[in-house]
Amino acid sequence: IGQNALIQIAAADDLDALETLRVALLGKQGSISGLLKTLGAMSPDERKVEGPKIHALRESVTEALAARKAALENDALETQLASETIDLTLPAPEAPRGTVHPISQVMDELAEIFADLGFAVATGPEIEDDWHNFTALNMPESHPARAMHDTFYFADRDAQGREMLLRTHTSPVQIRAMLERGAPLRVIAPGRVYRSDSDATHTPMFHQIEGLVIDKGIHLGHLKWTLETFLKAYFERDDIVLRLRPSYFPFTEPSVEVDVGYTIVSGPDGSRRRVVGGSEGWMEVLGSGMVNRKVIAAAGLDPDEWQGFAFGTGVDRLAMLKYGMDDLRAFFDGDVRWLSHYGFSA
Ligand code: PHE
Repeated sequence: IGQNALIQIAAADDLDALETLRVALLGKQGSISGLLKTLGAMSPDERKVEGPKIHALRESVTEALAARKAALENDALETQLASETIDLTLPAPEAPRGTVHPISQVMDELAEIFADLGFAVATGPEIEDDWHNFTALNMPESHPARAMHDTFYFADRDAQGREMLLRTHTSPVQIRAMLERGAPLRVIAPGRVYRSDSDATHTPMFHQIEGLVIDKGIHLGHLKWTLETFLKAYFERDDIVLRLRPSYFPFTEPSVEVDVGYTIVSGPDGSRRRVVGGSEGWMEVLGSGMVNRKVIAAAGLDPDEWQGFAFGTGVDRLAMLKYGMDDLRAFFDGDVRWLSHYGFSA
């Protein structure tokens, strides 16, 4: 059988013929399988002689089948490749593309504006310790301002025994930046912050951007110029009017709340919209002030030598004002239709 089988295998000219041959040789009813069955009826001496021969035969046939199969498959591939051509002039099918989330877009815009003003980007952890988030910012334990933050605390302390929380504002990055980089300093710190609060205008996670300048002889005029320049660049309008109101933050003294003027624009359908620019009305856009001496000292700098200003503002709010979204929660719903409508191309 051996010689014959090998000749037939070599002559099989397609995969179907080869398969038929395999079944005829090695299948349950196949001739080699039949030979193997005869071993049972042989005497032990006979089996010692015939057994190895039959097994060797099965092995060489199995190998020949595999080799022929590989050769036939390769031939099939070669033929297919030779017959197929690619038309490189055909337009490619359009691949689906995501969009840049409005928050990311606005963060990038802000980072770019402040980069032009010489600010570097600083970051800090979202899981923050009590000292950086409150104490160093002149909010010692039991300070009433702590209660205004609706803080998410962790049940467990960290390895150093510190009380941990989700940062309630980006202001702890002020402390980290001063400690890490020293003075003079010009940084912004964009990022996520958390407060236990949820309605149409509040989400438990939102975004802020912090600004901090530390240098010699810094005064409120520098703060006002910086905010005006930044808001004009961000809203891409020269008619931005700011109103500074005295306010209170534990970490700034004096503290200033900043309103931006708006104009009411009526749509053809009778709808009325507030557009930033002009001074028909005012809306609050940020908190700021001269960095409190105690904060400068807590961050290891001499407040007699260094002064500074700081500000913090909501990124989500700025995005809504510039791009006309009206529900804060839509930012975080992950609705692809909303995202593709308001998203930006990369
Ligand atoms: N951290 C303040 C807030 O979250 C904003 C702020 C930052 C105010 C810096 C003054 C200076 O409301």
